[in-house]
Amino acid sequence: MRSAKDFFRPLAVGAPMPPTEIPARPSRAIHFFDPSNEKMAAKIPQMVGTVDALLGNLEDAVKADNKVSAREGLIRIARDTPGLGGDSGPTQLWTRINALDSPWVLDDLTTLVPEIGERLDVIMVPKVQGAEDIHYVDRILAQLEAKAGLTRPILVHAILETARGVVNVEEICGASPRMQGLSLGPADLAADRRMKTTRVGGGHPGYLVREDPPTGEDGVADIGAARTSYQQDLWHYTIARMVDACAMHGIFPYYGPFGDIADTVACEDQFRNAFLLGCVGAWSLHPKQIEIANRVFSPSVEDIRHARRVVAAMGDGTGAVMLDGKMEDDASLKQCLVLVALAEQLAAADPVLKATYDAIEAD
Ligand code: GLV
Ligand code: MG
Repeated sequence: MRSAKDFFRPLAVGAPMPPTEIPARPSRAIHFFDPSNEKMAAKIPQMVGTVDALLGNLEDAVKADNKVSAREGLIRIARDTPGLGGDSGPTQLWTRINALDSPWVLDDLTTLVPEIGERLDVIMVPKVQGAEDIHYVDRILAQLEAKAGLTRPILVHAILETARGVVNVEEICGASPRMQGLSLGPADLAADRRMKTTRVGGGHPGYLVREDPPTGEDGVADIGAARTSYQQDLWHYTIARMVDACAMHGIFPYYGPFGDIADTVACEDQFRNAFLLGCVGAWSLHPKQIEIANRVFSPSVEDIRHARRVVAAMGDGTGAVMLDGKMEDDASLKQCLVLVALAEQLAAADPVLKATYDAIEAD
């Protein structure tokens, strides 16, 4: 057992102090790019300021032959792109390192931390199985930070994409003060669980419920009659577990990838389900998903208008009031305060959103 006090002592002599709180920085869209792809890399400087986080992907989707050039490309981009990463830039810099059992991960860590550690905000660790994986990354990061003389700890984000990881989700979230959040990895998770799907996230037409059959004149259920069926969300259970584990540990949950780039409508639905359940953002695999995530993960004008009315009507926050025929009390006020606080955090970094929320007051 580790004493609670030890959590906030550096794991290596000279490493920065572990964070006592994870800052709520806007991260509605985490846009993935392959740093070994020169065409993609060339677009990165123009994207700074248009997206909350840019993530240099080193893991899956980068060919084995390109692993080294992806790592080197990320170093170049981090060094040469003003406003990307570190505390001051408008856009955070994240990376997804290779899996802990891969031949590349040790070089990922030992190269990236000394070269661009001061710009890297969050390291995403794939295929996390349990607290032991986070402990490994935690210690090695502390050693590398100490060696590089970094003064700010790099945060760690785990992808929930193994059955064991889901079972261990609470201990993963609490394994280190560096833990920033979790993302759902629906593609790997589906394979690891032996789900019978072939997609990268999203729904499946076969996963549904059907209304009961009508009863025929003979009193027998007419199972052949036309009946409405409703597709269900394959990811509801996992996202809900992830949200609770993150909330319990003061860190942030994210929906992961939505692979059907053309289906912007279903992507928006999946992102919105995640937002409503408590997630703060999602991955973007194509620039058009950035706009979707920015919109979906920002409270709507209607929500903020209503939330502010409830806050104003509730005075000292106790008791109950009737607004438009609906009862509002301490608990509905707390929900409204969650939305108002999120709107304020996002508006502080997004001037267009700020103007939109400010205009509500003038209504
Ligand atoms: C993401 O990494 C996934 O496996 O869905
Ligand atoms: Mg994966």
